[in-house]
Amino acid sequence: MTQKQIMFQICGIFFGLIILCIIQAAVFAQDIPLISQQTFKIPDISGVQGDTNVFSLPSPDHSKSATLDEVLQNRRSVREYQNISISAQELSNLLWAAQGITDGNSGKRTAPSGQQIYPITLHVAVNRGDDVPTGVYTYHVSGHQLIRELDKTGEQNLIEALGQKSVTSSAACIIMSGNYSPYQKFDTDMANQSMYLEAGHIAQNILLELTSLDLSGVPLAGFNYENVGNVLGLDSDHPVLYGIAFGK
Ligand SMILES: Cc1cc2nc3c(=O)[nH]c(=O)nc-3n(C[C@H](O)[C@H](O)[C@H](O)COP(=O)(O)O)c2cc1C
Repeated sequence: MTQKQIMFQICGIFFGLIILCIIQAAVFAQDIPLISQQTFKIPDISGVQGDTNVFSLPSPDHSKSATLDEVLQNRRSVREYQNISISAQELSNLLWAAQGITDGNSGKRTAPSGQQIYPITLHVAVNRGDDVPTGVYTYHVSGHQLIRELDKTGEQNLIEALGQKSVTSSAACIIMSGNYSPYQKFDTDMANQSMYLEAGHIAQNILLELTSLDLSGVPLAGFNYENVGNVLGLDSDHPVLYGIAFGK
């Protein structure tokens, strides 16, 4: 290689680095997280549409929504439910309210998220389902789908681990887990603060949507988090944060 060629290569690397720095600065300026927003346990479901473990939810139905003031007025924690099943349409509306994508271009959702990290995974335990079989599912946000994680026995184990009477009589419950991986640049306090605050936003969205659907629920924090995490197969990077039991 001639001296001229070596100089040419060095210049190329140098300019490449400058362009990389410019792109990085632009990304930071827009507050777009550099780390993947994909959370734990969300499998790649591309190409498995025929899979019986994947339930595509109907689109959310907004035609019967109560007003915001009405649901704020009427929301109340309820701990006993009728022996009535939850429908796929109701689950669709609830999960949309919790984490539905409301801007297809940016991927932004119904609930806010610090730096758009979206660290929370929703685990949906269906105890009595109209068209979704009993089991535990992960909500796949971009596909608006439920991915089956645990069968009926697993669901019963989860109910037992949650341990509250309200859960036993509920048609379904949603457990939220977090993800520390996207917060590696920050300390654990900051990660915890962000995840718990976001779980609160999501929980309130669910509670208000329940009221709008003429259903009721109760937030759950009084349970053994480790046991629940174990039943869900979560590791220590994915802490259980919060839950909501609900039904008619
Ligand atoms: C962070 C948090 C944790 C809660 N944990 C439980 C719980 O484990 N079990 C329960 O029955 N209620 C629980 N609740 C519900 C409260 O008891 C209820 O919100 C409170 O009594 C006020 O009643 P309201 O929700 O009907 O307004 C919790 C509420 C919050 C905000």
